[in-house]
Amino acid sequence: MNTIALTRGVPADESYPLEQLAACASAVMSDPKLALEAMRYGTGYGFGPLRELLSAQNGVGTDQVLIGNGSLSFVDLLGVILPVGTAVIVESPTYDRTITLLRRHGVNVIPVPLESDGVNLELFEAAVKVHKPILAYLIADFQNPSGSTMSLAKRRAVLELAATHDFTILEDAPYRPLRYRGFPLPSLFELAPERVLQMSSYTKQISPGIRVGTLIGGKAWLARFAKAANDTYISGAFLGQATAFEFIRRGLLEPQLERLRALYAPRLLAMAAALRRNGLSDFLEPDGGFFLSVKLPESVSIADLLARAESAGLALTDGRGFFVDPLEGNRFLRLPFCALTELEIDEGVMRLAGLIQA
Ligand SMILES: Cc1ncc(COP(=O)(O)O)c(C=O)c1O
Repeated sequence: MNTIALTRGVPADESYPLEQLAACASAVMSDPKLALEAMRYGTGYGFGPLRELLSAQNGVGTDQVLIGNGSLSFVDLLGVILPVGTAVIVESPTYDRTITLLRRHGVNVIPVPLESDGVNLELFEAAVKVHKPILAYLIADFQNPSGSTMSLAKRRAVLELAATHDFTILEDAPYRPLRYRGFPLPSLFELAPERVLQMSSYTKQISPGIRVGTLIGGKAWLARFAKAANDTYISGAFLGQATAFEFIRRGLLEPQLERLRALYAPRLLAMAAALRRNGLSDFLEPDGGFFLSVKLPESVSIADLLARAESAGLALTDGRGFFVDPLEGNRFLRLPFCALTELEIDEGVMRLAGLIQA
């Protein structure tokens, strides 16, 4: 029996625009000016032409745009920037690597429970008052791992709290362009650009291998990130950044996103339908992104499932990793759906339901 991987949130292999990327990389290397700029050391801010393009698209200065080696690198740099013991609020659950990285740097990671429409506001406010955070890290659209999207009212409320208590919001928005139904809400950055640093990534939009993440926000914060980047890796992997620049300049990004939405939307529907069909109805159904999350029945723990998953032909992610207090993740299961065909989804959910019943 071949194993079905319900583990990592990776793009589907068939989503990568390989020929277009080959043409873009080749065009960069055939253009003497671009090629030289891509092959030289640069600054910690990233590849100049891509920064200029994004600054024009977002209506911000070029010193408000930073390009990194993927977007996770920004969380690592944030840990370098912040003094040990600094409080940072996160949603609970949140992206597991963010917890790991911030803790590695001695950041005091404060979890606030997440609901189907964003953080619990009362507990968020209470945590702000007690811990006086420098920053709150929020994934407002199609959250990893839960799939939840923050309501407009909650977006406004957390921004108001940020203004009142003078902290910054780090909005992590890699899934934002991947909406499969409904209408987009304004991003936290769009609502309050002076309070928000917005990070995003071309990993889910183009390919992880080009390692291109973007950070947009206030000049003073970005200067600190640029210095930390420069001190850490001198300058980024510019061939990937230049290839992304050429890809966007040619107008290839929007058609690529349309292809992704067409590829992934039926997979989300298939996952939700398979869960219902198999009696696993306690899940949060997102409108986009890569994941949905299931609450396991009371009698079942994620540890039980993990112990038996392999023999049932499944690979699963340990839900406890998404919580600052792992015990809270005992019944939490994240299910990615993008890199599986509908047949694999049906079969995977059937195996999962069998495992839970057993
Ligand atoms: C919420 C979130 N942030 C950041 C990342 C990191 O992406 P990358 O470093 O490839 O840009 C991921 C990847 O899965 C993610 O889900």
